[in-house]
Amino acid sequence: MPLPKAELHLHIEGTLEPELAFRLAGRHGVRLPYADTDELRKAYQFEDLQSFLNLYYELMAVLRTEQDFEDLANEYLARAAAQGVRHAEIFFDPQAHIARGVSMGTVVEGLWRALGCSEEGHGVSTRLIMCFLRDESADSALETLEAARPYLDRITGVGLDSAEVGHPPVKFREVYKAAAELGLRRVAHAGEEGPPAYITEALDALGVERVDHGLRCMEDPALVERLVRERIPLTLCPLSNVRLRAVDVLPEHPLRAMIEAGLLCTVNSDDPAYFGGYVADNYHAVRDALGLTKEQMRELARNSFLASFLEDDEERRARYIAAVDAYEFS
Ligand code: ADE
Ligand code: ZN
Repeated sequence: MPLPKAELHLHIEGTLEPELAFRLAGRHGVRLPYADTDELRKAYQFEDLQSFLNLYYELMAVLRTEQDFEDLANEYLARAAAQGVRHAEIFFDPQAHIARGVSMGTVVEGLWRALGCSEEGHGVSTRLIMCFLRDESADSALETLEAARPYLDRITGVGLDSAEVGHPPVKFREVYKAAAELGLRRVAHAGEEGPPAYITEALDALGVERVDHGLRCMEDPALVERLVRERIPLTLCPLSNVRLRAVDVLPEHPLRAMIEAGLLCTVNSDDPAYFGGYVADNYHAVRDALGLTKEQMRELARNSFLASFLEDDEERRARYIAAVDAYEFS
């Protein structure tokens, strides 16, 4: 039995496996510029975040109907459950779909057809986090929040993703303020490729409660001290960092140093179909590469529930944490 855990940094579009991409392409008569799944997998060689994003957005062309989004989410939830995930807070990128003529309603209703019954079907509780694309305009983000209004009962929070460098958090101050007024929780990608100053800005200008990646905080000791003091969770994605070359090789990943600095670290999969592993694969990879102890693995799992947006169901959080504490490593 795998260690129980929450996944807090997972882009649902990044769970599109080549097999499902071709199946959906067939469903809609979309021609993908790859002969087959093997040839597509060979394209998964990335130099940086942008080279990945190019393929990530290209493959979204096959996601068109509610059924497609339902199938995508159900495949993820089945894989996640098999890896010990009990709770998943799932990102989606509505602007990338709306730009192709796929409505907010199609995306949210489709995802909800899977998420709304994932406890019964997969034993996984879920939350949805709507991300704004930071390489789009602030006005576009505001329009996206407006388009989400009819669906806010299904959306727990907002996030910020896509190409980081050159798109500082402060650009989205207004939309985050509006989101907070609507009662939405706030997270943002910061310090993945961008500088530590973007992490500080995400905290101060956007009021984020959790930082996605946050890896580069280690370049700024005063920021580390602040993140420790304020107990700001970081959602790290080790296999992603290696594939997108934020880190050269896994043994050089700063996770161990981050844990030892007292940071509230969690381990997640980001875009598992593209980066060679789902969340338990990330846990095992860092255990092996960094020599993490069983108690450090347990702490990562405990942190994942502590950092999750379960304030509306503390009983559930306590149940999940008790399962982590009772877990017997083989
Ligand atoms: N969108 C999907 N994955 C992402 C990542 N790792 N960073 C920024 N935007 C993303
Ligand atoms: Zn991400």
